[in-house]
Amino acid sequence: MVRPRLIFRAWLAGAMLLSASGTGAGEARKLEGAERTWAFYCEGCHAAGIEEHPGTLRLSYTRSPELAAIRGRQDLTPEYLRQIVRMGYLEMVGFRKTEISDDELEALIKFIRLPVVTQAQGEK
Ligand code: HEC
Repeated sequence: MVRPRLIFRAWLAGAMLLSASGTGAGEARKLEGAERTWAFYCEGCHAAGIEEHPGTLRLSYTRSPELAAIRGRQDLTPEYLRQIVRMGYLEMVGFRKTEISDDELEALIKFIRLPVVTQAQGEK
């Protein structure tokens, strides 16, 4: 009996394809959620621009102007980001799991580490 096996194979390939594309969509959804987490909890202090963002201002002194805005920084490892967000860091308070869940935190970390292409870089 060859047929049922063939049908099963076709079904399996289809199922694998579906679940793979499902993962992609899920990943995109998580990053969208992370953008909201960022906007709600972090952006106010950490967006680019030292005038309006105390975190960025502070890091421009303690790190350097290039490292002042945290989005896109590759030197911030996931372990380090996890630690800072949960425990806080000097003047920055930590965030509890009721504010940012573990899943949300992992997505937020991915979002923060995405390379940021600025207008100036894009024009080069
Ligand atoms: C109320 C302002 C404020 C908020 C909100 C805030 N931070 Fe901060 N954050 C700071 C300040 C200020 C520092 C610098 C600490 C210092 O030197 O006192 C800092 C430092 C950091 C650092 C360390 C960077 C480095 O170079 O070592 C990371 C990472 C960070 N914040 C991530 C986050 C994330 C992620 C969020 C959102 C979940 C967030 N922060 C929310 C103010 C804030």
